[in-house]
Amino acid sequence: MKAMPTPIRLAAIGAGMRFSILHDVLASLPQHFTLTVVADSDPSLLAAATASSPHLQTFTDYTEAVTSPDVDAVLVLTPDWTHATIAMAALGAGKHVFIEKPIATTVADADRLITYASQCGRTLYVGHNMRFMPIVETIKTAIDDGLIGHPQAFMIRHFIGRGGDYFFKDWHCESSRTGGLLIHKASHDLDAMAYILGTTYTSVQAIGANRVYQYGHLRQPSASTPEVKNDIRNWPPHSQTNLNPAMDVEDVSFINLVCANGIIGSYSQCHFTPDYWRNYCIIGDEGRLENFGDTSNGGSVRIWNKRRPGYDAQADIEIPIGMDHGTTSGHDGSDERILDDFYQTIHGGTPRTSSSDARQVVAVGEAARLDILGNRNLSALADRQTRMS
Ligand SMILES: NC(=O)c1ccc[n+]([C@@H]2O[C@H](COP(=O)([O-])OP(=O)(O)OC[C@H]3O[C@@H](n4cnc5c(N)ncnc54)[C@H](O)[C@@H]3O)[C@@H](O)[C@H]2O)c1
Repeated sequence: MKAMPTPIRLAAIGAGMRFSILHDVLASLPQHFTLTVVADSDPSLLAAATASSPHLQTFTDYTEAVTSPDVDAVLVLTPDWTHATIAMAALGAGKHVFIEKPIATTVADADRLITYASQCGRTLYVGHNMRFMPIVETIKTAIDDGLIGHPQAFMIRHFIGRGGDYFFKDWHCESSRTGGLLIHKASHDLDAMAYILGTTYTSVQAIGANRVYQYGHLRQPSASTPEVKNDIRNWPPHSQTNLNPAMDVEDVSFINLVCANGIIGSYSQCHFTPDYWRNYCIIGDEGRLENFGDTSNGGSVRIWNKRRPGYDAQADIEIPIGMDHGTTSGHDGSDERILDDFYQTIHGGTPRTSSSDARQVVAVGEAARLDILGNRNLSALADRQTRMS
């Protein structure tokens, strides 16, 4: 294998929202990476990218970017349903690959991709950046230190307070493009919890429904997708306009899970909460842990490990989230740390993220959605009855 140049020359495929964050993060890792090429099927985004970085080569056809001799590694930052195809093209061209989560929208695609990466002898690194978030690191350290004994059960609640912005206006709410939000969104937290607990998932059952957004204002199918912005004034959720008429995913869902090491737990996501944050609760055989706030901007992990007669807001231990980290931009500093880990992995290090774990959370989302669809007749009936009353 030829020696890697330093800094490693990168092509970014996809110049949308994720690119805009990682572009800034890369600027703080000049010793590791230099961005030489950007590809996006939308030429206006390429023009915007070169306006701030005139040296960039740009392509509307990603195949030209991944085969460029000026590229050593590729960042796949396109929507989910394109991940596997673009990553395989890059691997086939001999490049190392950083692929955004989810690794793929189906288990079959994830398996194909992982097998191909191993045949090509190149790094396939999945961008599950939550493993580097201070909230996850803080909880994992507390668990590994035995502060609640041996973990036995967990509850994950993700309050996705985007009011329908992001997830119900563009491709995110079409299951053919994401595999559903139990893959697109849940893969983050399910991967993080598997990492915290050192396990993987073996079985699931799920329920879910679309309770709000399918009854909102849907744009005409022929109308173009509006520019999607996170705007706090878009509230309450049912007042949203221009929602995607092709939406076919749940806006509230619940999964029960069994882990390989016997731990059992639950995951839930709701897209019409007024606030946006994640709440993890883990119960061990000697205590209970829960986070309040989920960033290093004032969040903490509280641990109760002495018995008391009733509710007690005062924990036995309170650990501020992520006090030791310098940067908080790019998802509380996790984006810089994950790109650093990608660099170390290319140079022979052991990655903190795992493509087989990434595959397994796609399997959870796929199985959960099938379970929900199996229940569809009952939930559709319930919806109709609620609306008629
Ligand atoms: N890890 C994280 O914290 C995080 C955060 C946000 C998004 N993501 C992931 O990043 C990915 C991109 O999300 P986004 O919000 O930036 O989406 P986006 O829609 O804002 O941007 C995607 C871009 O890809 C381009 N594109 C689509 N198909 C293409 C193709 N075949 N060739 C070239 N360009 C193509 C689109 O024109 C668009 O500009 C998703 O998979 C998402 O899950 C991860």
